[in-house]
Amino acid sequence: MTESEKVAENIAAVNLNNGSLEEDDDIVNPWNVESKSTTGVDYDKLIKRFGSSKIDQELIDRFEKITGKPPHHLIRRGIFFSHRDLHSILTLKEQGKPFYLYTGRGPSSGSLHMGHLIPFVLTKWLQETFDVPLVIQLTDDEKFLWKDLKLEEAMKMARENAKDIIAIGFDVNKTFIFSNLDYLGKCPNMYQNIIRIQKCVTFNQVKGIFGFGDSDPIGKIAFPAAQAAPCLSTSFPFIFGPAKVPCLIPCAIDQDPYFRMTRDVAPRLGFAKPALIHSTFFPALQGAQTKMSASDNNSAIFLTDTPKQIKTKINSKAFSGGRATVEEHRALGGDPDVDVPFQLLRFFLEDDDKLEAVRVAYKKGEMLTGEMKKLAIETISPIVEEHQRQRKLVTEEVLDKFMTLRKLEFSK
Ligand code: TYM
Ligand code: TRP
Repeated sequence: MTESEKVAENIAAVNLNNGSLEEDDDIVNPWNVESKSTTGVDYDKLIKRFGSSKIDQELIDRFEKITGKPPHHLIRRGIFFSHRDLHSILTLKEQGKPFYLYTGRGPSSGSLHMGHLIPFVLTKWLQETFDVPLVIQLTDDEKFLWKDLKLEEAMKMARENAKDIIAIGFDVNKTFIFSNLDYLGKCPNMYQNIIRIQKCVTFNQVKGIFGFGDSDPIGKIAFPAAQAAPCLSTSFPFIFGPAKVPCLIPCAIDQDPYFRMTRDVAPRLGFAKPALIHSTFFPALQGAQTKMSASDNNSAIFLTDTPKQIKTKINSKAFSGGRATVEEHRALGGDPDVDVPFQLLRFFLEDDDKLEAVRVAYKKGEMLTGEMKKLAIETISPIVEEHQRQRKLVTEEVLDKFMTLRKLEFSK
């Protein structure tokens, strides 16, 4: 390689990484979310660093105009706050042209937690709103490579996680769920696309994007192509045939590095860049400095938790924005922005008026920490219980149907 080619490659790596981290920047990557601030990640700053776009009122208004539906509360409240090329997807909808949805889950625990619901709940709503096909990737290969897991365990958790995902209410006629370790052996087209992508990305580039080093197993270095390949519709010939159909990816913003890489590669393979809609993180119970994470048992409310466990977790672990004493709280008021029980409500209480009344009452000191926690428990418990009821209905047979390679129904 000539010196100028080397320089060009370095520039490409830096561009994909969107600059280097400064001392007090928040850490946001697929493996770690950390902020020094009690209000959590500075999302406006993150948009600048990642080079994505803010979901502003104009975009929300256009969304409503084109879909004829009031936007979902996760969009209205700025929980989905950032995007790439969402305008292009709305234009496709306007013109009656096809596109599809793609999202995923890395099976690192037997059960999903409340934070995982966020991208999947919005994905379900987008599927209903747009009436388009959806593919859901389970990266059991990824979790095998990154975690202390046997291959068989990762594959088993993928199936268990798929049941949680199905229980959210996806339409079997429009949804294909696959695990990488299973699907790659069934569909040569998927592996062919992975190889095409791998040829386009250098080690220097993945080092820049993901921080891989010389001692990482080569599986990790190759893996990003497996998360990128579902952005190419030809990875699913039984759904799309040979057509090059654009895709929209709902995910939390920690997954963006994979798709920054994909957006660089897709045009070189003759595909549109995948569009994205990014969510903020549901905070850890201990506070917004980190995200709710399946690898930290204490940080999360799992979808398998009983009402009693939920009550104990919220009462004893959830970080409170309340004051030290009742007198002080009444006099000075609490801080809903750092209060985890209030954040639970912001994500899961659908009634805008009630949410605003709670926020104001807490800030004024009229509502106490105990009352906030009680309302959070009363809001969350029924959601988790209903999820458990739905999950019981997901038999192995239902699961197999979602995971069968087949044609999907969609209007365009
Ligand atoms: P995973 O399993 O870590 O997370 C699955 C999805 O949940 C989001 N997420 C959260 N959202 C809000 N608050 C949180 N605390 C929180 N924790 C996780 C993640 O951003 C993700 O959207 N490698 C991926 C699997 C994957 C994927 C994809 C995800 C493969 N292809 C395409 C999104 C889109 C993973 O391990 O996700
Ligand atoms: N890499 C993701 C994780 O570790 C899992 C994943 C695979 C994913 N495909 C995806 C996430 C598509 C979002 C969208 O969390």
